[in-house]
Amino acid sequence: MLNGKKILLIISGGIAAYKSLLLIRLIKQNGGSVQTIITRSGEQFVTPLSVASLSGEKVFTDLFDLTDETEIGHIELSRSADLIVVAPASADIMAQMANGLASDLATTALLATDKSVLVAPAMNVRMWENAATQRNIETLKNDGVLFVGPDEGAMACGEFGLGRMAEPDAILEAIGDCFETDGDLQNKPLFGKKVLITAGPTHEPIDPVRYIANRSSGKQGYALAKAAVALGAHTVLVSGPTSLPIPEGAELLPVETANEMFDETMAELPADIAIFAAAVADFRVENAADQKMKKKNKDDVPSLELVQNPDILATVAAHKSKRPTLVVGFAAETENVIENAKLKLARKGCDLIIANDVGHGSDVMGGSENTIHIVSKNGVEDWPQMSKQEVADKLMAYLVDQLGVEV
Ligand code: C5P
Repeated sequence: MLNGKKILLIISGGIAAYKSLLLIRLIKQNGGSVQTIITRSGEQFVTPLSVASLSGEKVFTDLFDLTDETEIGHIELSRSADLIVVAPASADIMAQMANGLASDLATTALLATDKSVLVAPAMNVRMWENAATQRNIETLKNDGVLFVGPDEGAMACGEFGLGRMAEPDAILEAIGDCFETDGDLQNKPLFGKKVLITAGPTHEPIDPVRYIANRSSGKQGYALAKAAVALGAHTVLVSGPTSLPIPEGAELLPVETANEMFDETMAELPADIAIFAAAVADFRVENAADQKMKKKNKDDVPSLELVQNPDILATVAAHKSKRPTLVVGFAAETENVIENAKLKLARKGCDLIIANDVGHGSDVMGGSENTIHIVSKNGVEDWPQMSKQEVADKLMAYLVDQLGVEV
C-alpha cells in the first residue's frame, strides 16, 4: 500500500506514544519505511531503543547531536521523507508548529520541510477544547497541515471526551490517503491493481524444535514482488521463512506453516493477480508433539503420521466469488517437466503454470538463475535461462499483457 514511501515520524510527549510503536509496525508491514524523531517529552513515554528495534532505523532525539548533524542533518531528515507524521501530537508541539518555533530537532525538521505534514493530536479533553489549542489547529489547517483524529473516549487521565489519539490503523489509512494523488504511481500499468504472491518454503512442525521443510529460498517469489511493486501494484507477499530482505514497497505477511499460508492468502482475496511461487509442503505431521521428542532407548524410532495440507492454489483458482483474474502456479519438477506442468494446469484450475526443472544439477532451488516454460491452454512458451529478477520482470510484463491493461 505504501510502495516504499519514507515516513518521518515525530513522537511527541503523551501517553498515546505507545500506540506509535504499533503504527511503526503497520507502516512497515504495508511497505513503507520509518525514520523517527522522539522529542524530549516523548522519550518519557517510549524509549529510542524500542522505536529503533521496530523501525530498524536509527532514532533521532537531539538537535545538537554533532554526530547526527554530520551523518544526516535536520534538513536532510525532512528532505528525504515523503511525508511527516506527528503522532502523538501534543498541544505543545502543535502550538510550536502554529507559531513557527524551532527549538528542538522535531520542530526544526517541521519548520524546514516542504513535504506534507499529517498530525494525530492526543491530549486531555480540556486541553483540546482550550481556545488556544483550537486557534492553533485553525492556523495549522490554514497552513495545509492534515489531521487525523482525535477520537472521543476514555482517557488515561480518567476523563472522557475528545482528545484520544486516532487508532494506528486509522492513522495508517490517513497516511495512505496522503499518497493517493501520487501522479507518478498512477501512470504505472498495475496502479490500483492488487498482486498477491506466495513465496518461500513452509515449515511443518514435528515438535517445538524440529520441522519438515524444503530447499526453496523464496528468491523467485521475492523477485516477483519487486517487479510487481515497480509496475505500481499493491503487492502482498505471503512468505514462508526465508533470509531475504523485504522487497521495498511490498506488504510482507510472514507465515510458517502451509495452514498459516492458506489462511493469510484467503484473507487477502480479492486480488487481480495471484502468483503461487511458494514451495508449500504437501504434508504436515498430524500430531506434532507439544514437547521436544526424546529417544527413549536405542531401538526407539518414532513414526510420524502425515496428513495432506490444503492446496492453496487449487482453492483460490476454484473460488466462486473471489477468484483473481489471473491465477498463476509454479511447477517445480525433477522429470517430465512439461507433461507434469500440463497435468497440473488442469488439476489446479489455474490460468498459467510456470514450469521449471529443479532436478539434480539444475541449481534452481536456492540459486539465482531460472529457466522457465510458460504453460497455458494456448500451448508452451520456452524462455531462455535468466536471472530470477529478469524472469520476474519479464513475467510481470507478460501478466500485465494478459490482464489486458495498457502499458
Ligand atoms: O507442490 P505442487 O507441485 O503441487 O505445486 C504446484 C503449485 O501449487 C505451486 O504454484 C505451489 O505454490 C502451489 N501449491 C499450493 N498449495 C499447496 C501445494 C502447492 O498453493 N498445498
